[in-house]
Amino acid sequence: MAQNVQPTIRFLDEKYADYVRVCQQMMSAVYETQKLVEEYLLFHYGKDEEILPWAAGPKEALGFPVRTVRHFSAEPETVARALDVGCAVGRSTLELSKNAEEVIGIDFSQAFIEAAERVRLGDKPRYHRLEEASVTSQLELSLPGEIFPERVRFETGDAMNLREDLGTFDRVHAANLVCRLPEPRKFLARLPQLVKPGGELVLATPCTWLEEFTAREHWPEDRTLEWLEKELAGHFDLIRTADEPFLIRETARKFQWTVSMVTVWKRA
Ligand SMILES: C[S@@+](CC[C@H](N)C(=O)[O-])C[C@H]1O[C@@H](n2cnc3c(N)ncnc32)[C@H](O)[C@@H]1O
Repeated sequence: MAQNVQPTIRFLDEKYADYVRVCQQMMSAVYETQKLVEEYLLFHYGKDEEILPWAAGPKEALGFPVRTVRHFSAEPETVARALDVGCAVGRSTLELSKNAEEVIGIDFSQAFIEAAERVRLGDKPRYHRLEEASVTSQLELSLPGEIFPERVRFETGDAMNLREDLGTFDRVHAANLVCRLPEPRKFLARLPQLVKPGGELVLATPCTWLEEFTAREHWPEDRTLEWLEKELAGHFDLIRTADEPFLIRETARKFQWTVSMVTVWKRA
């Protein structure tokens, strides 16, 4: 009896692994949809009152992609190169251009990168904001002030397999990315190569580990902060942590309010 059970368990394990892989492919395809592109255009570039017209709403959660970039040290005022991994529609990447001469924004989603590039070119794309059911309103996006779009380049790429010739950077930013990767350790293992000695790394994560994105075997064994400290040990020193809330509007009456854990690291 026991002899017959083993192959069945192996078969079920393999089927479960296939199922997890299909789920992961479906979840990464989510970031290619028009719905998510428009949700993220609003999240990154919408005016406060366009995102949150409710007086009682959590206003301190607005402006997340601008706030995470402010965690880099104020000195030096300008650095040579910055990288934003998992940049989505590019707001943090553009913000990095205020204090970096060259900035690269990388995301796996072609739809996000195309939208980011349109914004960079000053296209002022019009986009829809979902109110409820099939009711939408149209918004026009304007380029944020004080940025240097000509310093920025957007490209598609996989955080777990970044191109070898990316070079090194004074600042690397990755917000709300690690817990959306199938194998986050592959991305963390590449970071020592990417950040120049003395350079800075800002990693923000809401620690929302889900099997749809990351198989359980690739989750942190412990709390995410301890896991990051272990994975980056010997290469990075943790300078500080902070909590940054963010708000993603789904409809006029439904919002995701989440708190991201920001960790700031210096390359040894
Ligand atoms: C939760 S969003 C965060 C986006 C943005 N950094 C922010 O804070 O608004 C996760 C982003 O990671 C991107 N992403 C997912 N898997 C990726 C991968 N393997 N390589 C690069 N980007 C990836 C998604 O397309 C999406 O833009």
